Amino acid sequence: MNETLNVLENRRSCRNFKPDMVKEEELQEILRAGTYAATGMGKQSPIIIAVTDKKLRDEIMEENRKIGGWNEGFDPFYGAPVILIVLAKKDVVTHVYDGSLVMGNLMNAAESLGVASIWIHRAKEEFESEFGKALLKKLGIEEEYEGIGHCALGYADGPVNEPAPRKENYVYFCK
Ligand SMILES: Cc1cc2nc3c(=O)[nH]c(=O)nc-3n(C[C@H](O)[C@H](O)[C@H](O)COP(=O)(O)O)c2cc1C
Repeated sequence: MNETLNVLENRRSCRNFKPDMVKEEELQEILRAGTYAATGMGKQSPIIIAVTDKKLRDEIMEENRKIGGWNEGFDPFYGAPVILIVLAKKDVVTHVYDGSLVMGNLMNAAESLGVASIWIHRAKEEFESEFGKALLKKLGIEEEYEGIGHCALGYADGPVNEPAPRKENYVYFCK
């Protein structure tokens, strides 16, 4: 199996991160890979908000926890120190697909560098809330964006899960 296929098959979601910050060079490489995802008509509808600031990370985590309905004290980002939030421009018809591919690139690029990752949901609700809108405004982002996902990043604290077996009939061949 070549290196790319190995990464695609062996990436797994991490739910137990060390608090250590991701190395700047690795973070930049992961972000760059995200920006090279294919997008409908090449419109590059997504943007990525890269959060490494602990205070803001914790505020987003709290917002996400409340949307998810979990009890206080639960961290839906599993301790990950870096949160990459992918949003995509609402008026582009392919924006959800575009943003999802960016998410895939981010997670696979992370895997290729030995950085653990997981997609965390509820970005849509987060950026429909006053909290999310205020964050966008603070960053000077004025157009209408939809939250697609959070790519939580860090170093795994222990081994990640084995993949679930692939279901039968995943692929239908028409030869
Ligand atoms: C759209 C999407 C949303 C997800 N949201 C969450 C989430 O909010 N919390 C979580 O723990 N995992 C989340 N995951 C991770 C999945 O649970 C995980 O990808 C799945 O169990 C398969 O495991 P693997 O990534 O190790 O292959 C999400 C994955 C996707 C693709």
